[in-house]
Amino acid sequence: MDQQAMNPPPDRRVAVRVTKDALRRIRSGHPWLFDRSIVSFSHDGAPGDLAIVFDDRRAFVGVGLLDPASPIRVRLLHVGKPKSIDAAFWADKIEVAAAGRAVLVDTQHDDAPTTGYRLINGENDGFGGLIVDRYGMVLVLKVYSAAWLPHLPVLVELLAMQPGVEAVVFRSSRNTAAAARGQGLADGRVLVGAIADPVLFTENGLVFEAATRTGQKTGHFLDQRENRWLVGERSRGSSVLDVFSCTGGFATHAAAGGASSVQLVDLNPYALEAARRNLGHNAERADVGRCSVETTTGDAFAVLERLVRERRSYGVVVIDPPSFASRADQTVGAIRAYRRLTDLAVRLVEPGGWFFQASCSSRVDRDTFVETVGNVAAGLGRPLQDALVTGHALDHPVTFPEGAYLKAVLARV
Ligand SMILES: C[S@@+](CC[C@H](N)C(=O)[O-])C[C@H]1O[C@@H](n2cnc3c(N)ncnc32)[C@H](O)[C@@H]1O
Repeated sequence: MDQQAMNPPPDRRVAVRVTKDALRRIRSGHPWLFDRSIVSFSHDGAPGDLAIVFDDRRAFVGVGLLDPASPIRVRLLHVGKPKSIDAAFWADKIEVAAAGRAVLVDTQHDDAPTTGYRLINGENDGFGGLIVDRYGMVLVLKVYSAAWLPHLPVLVELLAMQPGVEAVVFRSSRNTAAAARGQGLADGRVLVGAIADPVLFTENGLVFEAATRTGQKTGHFLDQRENRWLVGERSRGSSVLDVFSCTGGFATHAAAGGASSVQLVDLNPYALEAARRNLGHNAERADVGRCSVETTTGDAFAVLERLVRERRSYGVVVIDPPSFASRADQTVGAIRAYRRLTDLAVRLVEPGGWFFQASCSSRVDRDTFVETVGNVAAGLGRPLQDALVTGHALDHPVTFPEGAYLKAVLARV
């Protein structure tokens, strides 16, 4: 491992007392302590210090990582009996996370193996603010809290010991990039091994590339894998419109599923270039080779409006926008945007064709989203039929309410 930039983990602790409400919440498994829930700290701490939470009788409640710059002041690692946070603790947690994915890697879709999946899903796997995605032999570790930076040497060493892993790439989120750079950890730095980006991996038996050092998130939107499979299964003989396509996960599954044509729409021209390459990686499949491909760079709303004006129609329409609401005050605007997208997209589906719409806005709950989409479709005289409502796949477990962000509707209209 390239240890040069990383300091050894600190053995620094801060004692924390919290409100009664917060005690109740963390004892029932919630992984966050907000700044407003903190009654007192023993002293000012640094990012990554172990925050030991005590109750009024000075009994141990739990331990987490301190992030003084974040409203989520402490991300809990463990609640219950006192426990050492050492290499053995991290190793156990990584093993549990890996075991939870084994079924997916070994058995799902027998002839269509998957080597790209989320190995560690943040707080849902007990690693609040840390994501690890696996693309074949390469792990991409992304931090969403500077609290992880001092703990990386031990974590990276353990992750690199996972069977078959040859390289580990570091990624930082927007809010952690400056702190990480300050420690020599530039976004995209290769910490273990060497890689030739983009990295090739398989998803449901199809070959994709992930720009692990520069791509959005960690290089691929892994959370839509199962939905792509479902869309692929419904695409034979159809023209397919993939809106907010990014690197073409849906379009590639549709092509492999026998779509006659795929049209991809995204604002990002580089993502569309990668999408063409992804289709190309699978061109030896007869179905993909036969499928015609069109890409459109532009704002999805404007493109959809134009397609409606042109009275275009498709056998399958896929709508997978970015998050529209990460804060409560954005919820109303997000629902308005979903309504608009449903209205435009359903008009573009041939009668009896398939319509798919997803939401990754954590502030819009599943019922509200499904009701919004259903009402708009019904209002157009195109009620949802044979509807499937999907959520998180096995490698994106959800263990607390805020962890649930993905929901999607797939239906005939
Ligand atoms: C959640 S990702 C889509 C993931 C993709 N469907 C897949 O399967 O990998 C959202 C995508 O929307 C694109 N995007 C964001 N705003 C957009 C807009 N107004 N019009 C078109 N594309 C947009 C982003 O570039 C990004 O690629």
